[in-house]
Amino acid sequence: MQYRRLGRSGLQVSELSLGSWVTYHNQVDTKAATEMLAAAFDAGVNFFDNAEVYAQGESEVVMGQAFKALKWNRLDYIVSSKFFWGLTRESNTTVNRKDTLNRKYLMQAVDGSLKRMGLDFIDLIYCHRPDPHTPIEETVRAMSDIITQGKALYWGTSEWSAADIRAAWEIAERHHLHKPVMEQPQYHLFHRKRVEQEYARLYEDIGLGLTTWSPLASGLLTGKYRDGVPAGSRASLESMAWMRDQLQDRAKNAAVGELASIANELGCSLAQLAIAWINRNPRVSTVILGASKASQLQDNLGALAVTPKLTPEIVARIDAITLPLSN
Ligand SMILES: NC(=O)c1ccc[n+]([C@@H]2O[C@H](COP(=O)([O-])OP(=O)(O)OC[C@H]3O[C@@H](n4cnc5c(N)ncnc54)[C@H](OP(=O)(O)O)[C@@H]3O)[C@@H](O)[C@H]2O)c1
Repeated sequence: MQYRRLGRSGLQVSELSLGSWVTYHNQVDTKAATEMLAAAFDAGVNFFDNAEVYAQGESEVVMGQAFKALKWNRLDYIVSSKFFWGLTRESNTTVNRKDTLNRKYLMQAVDGSLKRMGLDFIDLIYCHRPDPHTPIEETVRAMSDIITQGKALYWGTSEWSAADIRAAWEIAERHHLHKPVMEQPQYHLFHRKRVEQEYARLYEDIGLGLTTWSPLASGLLTGKYRDGVPAGSRASLESMAWMRDQLQDRAKNAAVGELASIANELGCSLAQLAIAWINRNPRVSTVILGASKASQLQDNLGALAVTPKLTPEIVARIDAITLPLSN
């Protein structure tokens, strides 16, 4: 495992990290989470991603219980949370509890996450989505104040436009506040424009780091949806029914079939090929993996050995298959 600086910050994150969306509490209980965190940590993973909204706070509870059992030195791991939706995405929730980045919500949301995880501070906190109804300056001041209070160490954004990230950074610069350090965007073979084009100037201009999500497009890039929805898979979950069509997209599954021959040539799995392709991008600080089983995690960590095999010629072949289908 190699470690990369999170953008311009001094913090070193492992090139592969592990997240808990969909899985913790729903598919992975505390015992399994503890085992997978331990396996990842043993492989050199030092960053574990979470969010307030995952399993309505229960994902943070599971991770907190696992940390307690693992008794790692706090200097040796980095943990995140993200705020915007509140604890539930139900539309009948009262105002100031959801879909906001206002100061009141943010200052209270961080306390909830700290309590659920049983931590004194969270290393990375994110604005989980942009909030066009709150002035960016209000959000920047609140995130910066949370850091000044010692409840978090670094802050960033997730799925913000390049213009909004730059605006936040400039406000922080102007007022000597803590600046956003990282963005958490979706990035995989079928979703690349934002990272490769929209954010292109931000890497040098403001030193933006990236912690990228859904490297396997929720499993599509493993080839598991080529013949429909397998039992027990993400798309089989009732709560994820909204994803079924996109995971069974015919053209994309056919492209995955073509990628399989490249993976065969390299002696690796499709998942490893897809993850290695992301990892080879130097703009990516860390690729956040997802896994519902220990065997998947082991498969995915194997991508590290595949990254050096991605020669320009291999990458050109991968791009020829996937670029026409990517956004
Ligand atoms: N900031 C954001 O808005 C945002 C959004 C999404 C995710 N994230 C973060 O990014 C992390 C990773 O995202 P993700 O979970 O969507 O990643 P992903 O790698 O695209 O999908 C992971 C899922 O694919 C399946 N899978 C993984 N490895 C496999 C393998 N080797 N073989 C077969 N199936 C495999 C598993 O689902 P099944 O076994 O259930 O099929 C697993 O839970 C999340 O946990 C979260 O921390 C952030």
